[in-house]
Amino acid sequence: MAKPPIAGNRTGRKLGQKVKKGKLKASSRRWLERHINDPYVQRAKLEGYRARAAFKLLEIDEKHQVLKGAKRIIDLGAAPGSWSQIAAKVTDSSDDDIRVAAIDFLEMAQIPGVKILQLDFLDPDAPRQLIEAVGGTPNLVLSDMAAPTTGHQKTDHIRTMHLCEVAAHFAVEVLAEGGHFLAKTFQGGTEKDLLNMLKQNFRQVLHIKPASSRQESVEMFLLAKGFKGRNGPGVVELDEEGFVRDPREDVPATEDLDQD
Ligand SMILES: C[S@@+](CC[C@H](N)C(=O)[O-])C[C@H]1O[C@@H](n2cnc3c(N)ncnc32)[C@H](O)[C@@H]1O
Repeated sequence: MAKPPIAGNRTGRKLGQKVKKGKLKASSRRWLERHINDPYVQRAKLEGYRARAAFKLLEIDEKHQVLKGAKRIIDLGAAPGSWSQIAAKVTDSSDDDIRVAAIDFLEMAQIPGVKILQLDFLDPDAPRQLIEAVGGTPNLVLSDMAAPTTGHQKTDHIRTMHLCEVAAHFAVEVLAEGGHFLAKTFQGGTEKDLLNMLKQNFRQVLHIKPASSRQESVEMFLLAKGFKGRNGPGVVELDEEGFVRDPREDVPATEDLDQD
């Protein structure tokens, strides 16, 4: 499905374009140049996707079949919406029969067949609202959430890893048996405890770096396939009181982080 983009100008726009020196800072100019010359950006435009991120999901799916058989999908950190566009298509979701729920604290333009929640996923009421919105038990939970950048790399890294952990616990709480969980993580960043929890609850757990994920980026994806279900003994990680542990309560405060 996700063929690598053809170098050149399928959109009618030349690659290798330069942005004129002007009011932009050098770093912003470099970002803009990279963006307009990125073949995945151009292909996203051509194929009607809202973001180049679409190709990461399509590429992962091509190799690992995560979308096949998905009946209800929850998309965490969904804006601007390319993963939700794909989710609506594969689930045959429509406004009369919603099968995709998406959440982002940023505003997002409507997508037919997608119920969009403009809310922080870390809000304690988010899980309930998502399940209500998707209208049944999901068999795929996607998370492309990345914490807003603070300029302090270590803080950003820890916050995104935290989102990944909360998303993983959410997936274990809501997925149908046999379902899958796919989330953004960072190279070398997935905590051992999180990996162990996923290995206990899913048949297969792996890290993936799709070609469409920029090589200079430390971004990777964590895929947990084949949820074992919540009925087997000792499968879901429980706290001392017998409840599914909610890592929302462990959110790291900036002042607690080592600022070196
Ligand atoms: C890389 S973008 C997602 C791109 C999306 N997969 C697509 O295909 O268009 C990451 C998104 O995560 C969202 N995000 C980060 N933290 C979040 C949180 N706590 N709750 C909801 N959304 C969050 C950001 O606002 C951002 O829009």
